[in-house]
Amino acid sequence: MASQLFAKKPLKLLLEEMAGENRLRRVLGPVTLSSLGVGAIIGTGIFVLTGVAAHDKTGPALMLSFVVAGITCVFAALCYAEFASMVPVAGSAYTYAYATLGELFAWIIGWDLVLEYTVASATVAHGWSHYFQDFLGLFGVHLPKVLTNAPFDYDTVVGHVAATGKWFDLPAIIVAFLVTAVLVKGIQESARFNTAMVAVKLVIVLFVIAVGSFFVKRANWHPFAPFGLSGVSLFGHTLFGQTGKGGEPLGMLAGSATIFFAYIGFDSVSTHAEEAKNPRRDVPIGIISSLLICTTLYIAVSAVITGMVPYGQINIDAPVSTAFAQVGLPWAQFLISLGALTGITSVLLVLMLSQPRVFLAMARDGLVPESFFGAVHPRLRTPWKSTILTGFFVAGMGGFLPLRILAELVNIGTLLAFVIVCAAVLIMRRTNPEAERPFRVPFVPLVPILGIASCLLLMFSLPAENWLRLFVWLAIGFVIYFGYGRKHSVMARERAKQAGDGAAQASGG
Ligand code: ALA
Repeated sequence: MASQLFAKKPLKLLLEEMAGENRLRRVLGPVTLSSLGVGAIIGTGIFVLTGVAAHDKTGPALMLSFVVAGITCVFAALCYAEFASMVPVAGSAYTYAYATLGELFAWIIGWDLVLEYTVASATVAHGWSHYFQDFLGLFGVHLPKVLTNAPFDYDTVVGHVAATGKWFDLPAIIVAFLVTAVLVKGIQESARFNTAMVAVKLVIVLFVIAVGSFFVKRANWHPFAPFGLSGVSLFGHTLFGQTGKGGEPLGMLAGSATIFFAYIGFDSVSTHAEEAKNPRRDVPIGIISSLLICTTLYIAVSAVITGMVPYGQINIDAPVSTAFAQVGLPWAQFLISLGALTGITSVLLVLMLSQPRVFLAMARDGLVPESFFGAVHPRLRTPWKSTILTGFFVAGMGGFLPLRILAELVNIGTLLAFVIVCAAVLIMRRTNPEAERPFRVPFVPLVPILGIASCLLLMFSLPAENWLRLFVWLAIGFVIYFGYGRKHSVMARERAKQAGDGAAQASGG
């Protein structure tokens, strides 16, 4: 049994599978892939979570938080790029783990990617709802209060989760279903729609930087780090930095762990490797260029917002658009809300596009039922059944669970996935030194080791209860794996077949 848990999927087999039927269409080039990357990255993180982070954890040092999280992601992105160039198949980190660490780790990471994509989509749907309500408010339209948020949320004043008096977040539910409908229709249509939205989003972000910089008051940057420059805890015991009311670490690093969410998505480019025209070249370009573009923009936006408004007055629901109203530019608030809505929609589109592709890879390996998760629509060529299922989960979680808790859970899960991918590069270099690597991580082993260390640091900068949530999530995953995947996996069936053939030969001979 142990041998199956650590059975690795041979690289050769992965590449052979690419030649079979039931493939996705190869329609994506480097610009579309980078645009999918930017599409997945700039969204709720910068437009919503900057508010919470600056207000409660960092103050103006938020700029440094973006630098730290950006560097962490660059290490991971280089590792993703190496794998994506070696094994350009759908499935991203899941597939890489199968080839290097074996089936159990592959399952763990696949299950973890559900956190990264489905739970992140629910978080993003929430963020969308904040800006949608902000936008409607500009016209004096207000939804019934009970339909505007999750029924409970973390309350920083009391330091624990408390009832909000709301029923559910209706706009979050509606947008999740609308995006699902677009995705079922097809990748090419979705990619075109995405490219247009990414353009709008970039224009708005540049607008925020250009116009906002005229309203920056240097005095707002002092004190620069009111909560300090650290913020690390070990399962609830603050090691470095200040501690919040709920026992959570505060400071620049703690802020970094919160806004890390803003970077999530660059790796989703690697889930589209199977649809790339020239995956070995274009996927690394897509991953790295989209990350670099976003890092630069984020640092500039956070500098502008914390310079425009004293950190204690930064709005925590729609901080970017509200900052412009706070300096007396209400018309800009309209423009930014509209841009944020468009931008966040594109994030939702890409994340919800990625999840079914990870399921597809897992279904091909027999770890989840192939008849459902592996079904590609005969005419639309999209994994339609799992897209619809994903839509239901995103709508459910986006409607009923609070944004902050969802975002932190996604962050810790994604950081874990990054740790595994960085480790997998180190292992693959040893086990398959000869494999063709069109893109190579520079300075191995230094870069993957720095990637692992920085991701772990950010994991320990998140409020401690996230570890518990992560363990619960993984425990549910183990139940599914041992209840289904282990018995149905293609590798397990192959082994059983070989053992059966061997036994027949022995008795025949
Ligand atoms: N990075 C994405 C966002 O901020 C998930 O919305």
